[in-house]
Amino acid sequence: MTDTPFDLTIRNGRISTASDTFHADIGVRDGVIAALGPGLPPGRRDIDAAGRWVLPGGIDSHCHVEQLSGMGIMCADDFYSATVSAAFGGTTCIIPFAAQHRGDKLPDVVADYARRAAEKAVIDYGFHLILSDPTEQVLQRDLPELIKNGITSFKVFMTYDRMKLDDYQLLDVLEVADREGALVMVHAENNDMIRWVARRLVERGMTAPKYHAVAHTPLAESEATHRAVALARMMDVPILIVHVAGLEAVQVVHSSQALGLPIHAESCPQYLFLEAGDIDLPGLEGAKYCCSPPPRDAASQQAVWQGLTDGTLQLYSSDHAPYRYDASGKLPKGDQTTFKDVANGVPGLEVRMPLLFSEGVLAGRISIERFVALTATNHARTYGLYPRKGTIAVGADADLAIWNPERAVTISTRMLHDNVGYTPYEGKTVRGWPEVVVSRGRVAVEDGELKVERGSGRFLQRGTPEPVLRQRLNGNPNALVRKYFTNSLSRQG
Ligand code: URP
Ligand code: ZN
Ligand code: ZN
Repeated sequence: MTDTPFDLTIRNGRISTASDTFHADIGVRDGVIAALGPGLPPGRRDIDAAGRWVLPGGIDSHCHVEQLSGMGIMCADDFYSATVSAAFGGTTCIIPFAAQHRGDKLPDVVADYARRAAEKAVIDYGFHLILSDPTEQVLQRDLPELIKNGITSFKVFMTYDRMKLDDYQLLDVLEVADREGALVMVHAENNDMIRWVARRLVERGMTAPKYHAVAHTPLAESEATHRAVALARMMDVPILIVHVAGLEAVQVVHSSQALGLPIHAESCPQYLFLEAGDIDLPGLEGAKYCCSPPPRDAASQQAVWQGLTDGTLQLYSSDHAPYRYDASGKLPKGDQTTFKDVANGVPGLEVRMPLLFSEGVLAGRISIERFVALTATNHARTYGLYPRKGTIAVGADADLAIWNPERAVTISTRMLHDNVGYTPYEGKTVRGWPEVVVSRGRVAVEDGELKVERGSGRFLQRGTPEPVLRQRLNGNPNALVRKYFTNSLSRQG
């Protein structure tokens, strides 16, 4: 068929965006959605999506890929296995991290990640930075340059001895973000509270993985979240609190927003579907569930569900942090590994969306439009990719997932495409699965097979994050401290 206007037509699907649900055909040309409406002409390739839900491909804006952890442990997934795994789970775009460790030159770090991702990724990707060494060179030269080149967000840690910034450094970073138009993502946990408890646990021989959740007390999370909000408030800049886990942290975010502060927040599957009790397993098995912050109790799970539903939490990401259950990852000291040595994080790239589709949408907790917002649209808006990514609209990239809402799947390690060797969700049955996944108009996954080439994903230069644009437009009448002190500083010359 040569005279068709479309390379691909997806017909008869039930389409949902973050705001609407409707029946229409989608015509795709040159990787972009070219038409949307009833009765479109056939494409060179035609997919009948009758009985299926056609949704924007997911964007996972928090995942760790081919990255060295603070403790020097390499992730089990490289840019190939991670992006393949993402695609099989309905995700068509990821934003992992280019991680600076102390002493690293930021441009070298980014060049290294860019080279590895370009060789291997099968879907599109951007990068956030992780900043652990905000020198004058970084603050004054490297960051402005990288932001101009489309890396418009960076993560900072308030914990982990080798990664954490102190409050003074955080203020420096917030100032640069404000000036240059970037969004700061904060890992909010109080390092000293964790260290203090951890030391006493170890002194008492309490070293099993379950003590990870004791050391990472919910108070360490809520205190640091509160402090991060105060620092952002002083500087009058938006921030995004990542991987919110605990009830009190959700409350801190919620009450900051009620004051009108530009505080944004994310949560993850592990805080909906796992509990601290899951870490309490024989031997070192609980290491598979150690992440920071750790999964909490039922009340916290409920608070995270509520936050995702009412808008307190805008993003649902995997925080995929893939470490194998062996000496290469979770157990660096073999059977002598204590909870302090365990590599932090759980895998979740592939099951992130199916878990929420099943337990959120089909179980009646959230609408399908909210699902789209939480898994795709809000990520695009928050990180400067909208409207190219994260929605179904004429002119947007044809990043789509065709879901079969009837299909029941029992999650098992064997069916997943990552390189981790276990899943915390082993044996859980979900309803609904993304059977066909389209990346920039290319059928990427179909009939359980990968159809796209290694290295065919493209780097995305991102624009200014919407929280930053909104702040510039509106200012924040409640955050007067910085205006007051900058005014007084400038008056004094
Ligand atoms: O435990 C976690 N979340 N590990 C990954 C690194 C991070 O802090 O996001
Ligand atoms: Zn983190
Ligand atoms: Zn993370």
